[in-house]
Amino acid sequence: MTAVWKKTAALTLETAPFAIRAERASDVVAREALLDASFGEGRFARTCQRLRDGRLPAEGLAFSAVHEGRLVGTVRLWHVSAGGVPALVLGPLAVDASCRSLGIGAALMEHALAAAKARGHGAVILRGDPVYYARFGFAADKTGALALPGPFERERLLAVELRDGALDEAFGMIAATGMKARRPRTRAAEKARKLLIRAA
Ligand SMILES: CC(C)(COP(=O)(O)OP(=O)(O)OC[C@H]1O[C@@H](n2cnc3c(N)ncnc32)[C@H](O)[C@@H]1OP(=O)(O)O)[C@@H](O)C(=O)NCCC(=O)NCCS
Repeated sequence: MTAVWKKTAALTLETAPFAIRAERASDVVAREALLDASFGEGRFARTCQRLRDGRLPAEGLAFSAVHEGRLVGTVRLWHVSAGGVPALVLGPLAVDASCRSLGIGAALMEHALAAAKARGHGAVILRGDPVYYARFGFAADKTGALALPGPFERERLLAVELRDGALDEAFGMIAATGMKARRPRTRAAEKARKLLIRAA
């Protein structure tokens, strides 16, 4: 399903609203370029990347924002065990610099959280700026007993429960549990696989 958003105050989107839709295979190159531009070369060294390495996103939970046929935003969610409790980790979230402050980030977040809830997931965790993510209900109060597999700032480890009490028993390390990306056989497929793993 594609959701169309139009922010009345946003002049640049007045005539051509943006759409949030499921990510497509053909989005990968543009998505990777957006993530490179948003996070720089060091993005593969970020702690949360350890939860995505070699994994596929959770089914039905990778979204693109598109404006005038161009990919301008991305968000994905990943299966994890949060100290034994099933949860999702959200990220990376990015919006093209030319389209920021138009509500696209918020639309991606709201769409992704609604989709995760509709699929029965109980909680979403992320590492990010508390000021930005508080508007979507994220706070550090449910993550005090959790840890990431690498350096992280405790006040930036945030979560929102989609089902009350979903993280009550969540103690310990957050670990990847998503489906592993398969090893393809052909050379072309192997190249695509490496691109996907690098992208994840
Ligand atoms: C964060 C990001 C996704 C927001 O996208 P967006 O489409 O601009 O978001 P929205 O339009 O919904 O909201 C924009 C508002 O959030 C604010 N905001 C953006 N990043 C923020 C942050 N890190 N902390 C606090 N507020 C922030 C903006 O100042 C803006 O405020 P305004 O509405 O008063 O002008 C985008 O700035 C981005 O891609 N940044 C680079 C990558 C990144 O940092 N991703 C998040 C990783 S934690």
